[in-house]
Amino acid sequence: MTPTIIAIDGPAASGKSTIGKRLADELGYLFFDTGVMYRAVTWIALQRGVDVRDEGAVTRLAQETPIDVAPASQSDGRACDVIVEGRDITWETRRPEVDANVSIVSAYAGVRREMSRQQRRIGQRGRVVMVGRDIGTVVLPEADLKIYLDASAEERARRRFDEIRTRGGEADYEEILAKVRERDRIDSTRAVAPLRPAADAVILDSDKLSADEVFARVRELCNG
Ligand code: DC
Repeated sequence: MTPTIIAIDGPAASGKSTIGKRLADELGYLFFDTGVMYRAVTWIALQRGVDVRDEGAVTRLAQETPIDVAPASQSDGRACDVIVEGRDITWETRRPEVDANVSIVSAYAGVRREMSRQQRRIGQRGRVVMVGRDIGTVVLPEADLKIYLDASAEERARRRFDEIRTRGGEADYEEILAKVRERDRIDSTRAVAPLRPAADAVILDSDKLSADEVFARVRELCNG
């Protein structure tokens, strides 16, 4: 039987969203990228001039501001819509200042508790591919299929670099690599829900596999 709750975890830029979205589309499941919720809280804090180092204030914002994640309403490259107080903030959550601060915000226990609660409610409905860092370990430990998608920091930085260059942007590989490493360090050493594979996760290393090969492997795992 095809698993109904599929968790895909792994470090930044390991290809989780690409694989997860493709899988969800093929199965007719909801694709839910949980990272957008931490990004939304970070954006709200920056927007309101709340110091991201003020754990209490950021946690209150997370508790008081509903964040809606809905299926994509536009085909402009987004995987889903992120709505806060009636405003579509999907692309704001990708801004560099959000990138620079989201690891700090997502390390707060109170923020994680609130986001996990909301994510769990959606995940438990089933027919979902949920992507993040702690889905298989904390949010939905009962998931039917858990995948941990890994790749070296160098490979992930190279992919980010190519992505920016393809869009015509300026990019510095060494700078991107340093940022990838710094986010890995924060995500995997934080006290609450650090990035790590669940004991029953299938680990796939995408350094050695193309996107199509990773997808084929994931598809096989879904078929049991
Ligand atoms: O996947 P992403 O780059 O959009 O994630 C943004 C940040 O949120 C990143 O610092 C890790 C964190 N995150 C998390 O702690 N737990 C999740 N389930 C998803 C993301």
